[in-house]
Amino acid sequence: MVSTEKSSQPTGAELFDIPDSHLRGRASLKWSTVEPDVLPAWVAEMDVHLAPAIFQTLQNALFRDDAGYPGTSDGLSTAFANFACDRWDWNIDPEHISIHIDAATAASKLMRYYAGPDGRVIIMPPVYNRFYDWMRVSEVRPYEVPLTDVARGGFFDLAGIEEGLAAGTRVILLCNPHNPLGRVYSKQELGQLAELAAQYDAVVISDEIHAPMVYHGVEYTPWLTVSEAAQHTGVALHTATKSWNFAGLKCGIAVRSATGPWPEGLDPKITLNDSGFWGILATEAAFKDCRAWLDAVREHFQAQTELLTDLLPHHLPGVKFHPPQASFLAWLDFSDTDLTEEPADYFLREARVALSPGSSFGSVGTSCARLNMGTSAERLERIVTAMGAVWPPR
Ligand SMILES: Cc1ncc(COP(=O)(O)O)c(C=O)c1O
Repeated sequence: MVSTEKSSQPTGAELFDIPDSHLRGRASLKWSTVEPDVLPAWVAEMDVHLAPAIFQTLQNALFRDDAGYPGTSDGLSTAFANFACDRWDWNIDPEHISIHIDAATAASKLMRYYAGPDGRVIIMPPVYNRFYDWMRVSEVRPYEVPLTDVARGGFFDLAGIEEGLAAGTRVILLCNPHNPLGRVYSKQELGQLAELAAQYDAVVISDEIHAPMVYHGVEYTPWLTVSEAAQHTGVALHTATKSWNFAGLKCGIAVRSATGPWPEGLDPKITLNDSGFWGILATEAAFKDCRAWLDAVREHFQAQTELLTDLLPHHLPGVKFHPPQASFLAWLDFSDTDLTEEPADYFLREARVALSPGSSFGSVGTSCARLNMGTSAERLERIVTAMGAVWPPR
């Protein structure tokens, strides 16, 4: 694919070089809702400059006074299908792509439709905290099967999942790449899960929205390319909002397969009409014209992971951390330390650093916290140094 991006792509370090004073002027969630003396390292927004092609696309829409309903999503579908083919060897029929307000809305519709009389959905905590909110609004309940061996990255408990399926649960909400662990499951692991799902005629909703941010050298397998069983059972959810940092614009992509599930009556024309026009414009620009920007950001995250790996033993001895394989989130495990309260509460009060509370990712995360590395190296160092200044707890 020929990109229209200029060759003078700034480095990741340059893209994240934004002073606190500028970020504190933002009105979006991460910076605007913390006290002025708090360093925010919580919600998954990045401290980054928007990709130029996204900026330009939005500016062009502004100049046209163009803020109506979405017209067509053909450009977006083609841009995503090309990206998936080039990056992941995934051949998608653009007819199988539908556009939604966001990933949450698409997931809710699928969960509601397929949960059936059991009314439960299998999830594998610690897992993206909003899965619990998604379920609440979808009027389904979680069937929790915690990942095993989280200290080594986290693995499916296939026996536990089978127990849930045998008890009548018919939907699995998968997170791959995983938030908060940054784990990218292998094709073999996904294949085993697909076999199990197919055996029980279950539906797998595969949330893959962190996939564009998989690190260099890590093999990522989209669910719908795993096996025939995966295609029979799955729907994949994608966005550009996370990887290109425009969550507030809203736009979710659902990909079904020729042989897989899709709710009767869930009409892509209607879901498109319900979606955010500017989110659609930005998403098309991201997948089509912002690949060099993405690669600079991915490289930066790998460097941030290495930096955090170096900083932790010095500033926060005893805290466990397994380096992620994707994205910008770090799962810190304080269970072997003397800390007796929720880590996010302790560090907010004592160090004025805002982390995401581990317990919001499921009760298995109570002695953990999620740290957002989607910032500059300098600010990451400042965050960890501030935490280290109140460590160990007295
Ligand atoms: C795994 C996962 N799914 C979905 C979302 C929500 O994405 P959006 O708000 O762009 O739909 C997030 C946001 O962080 C996430 O981490």
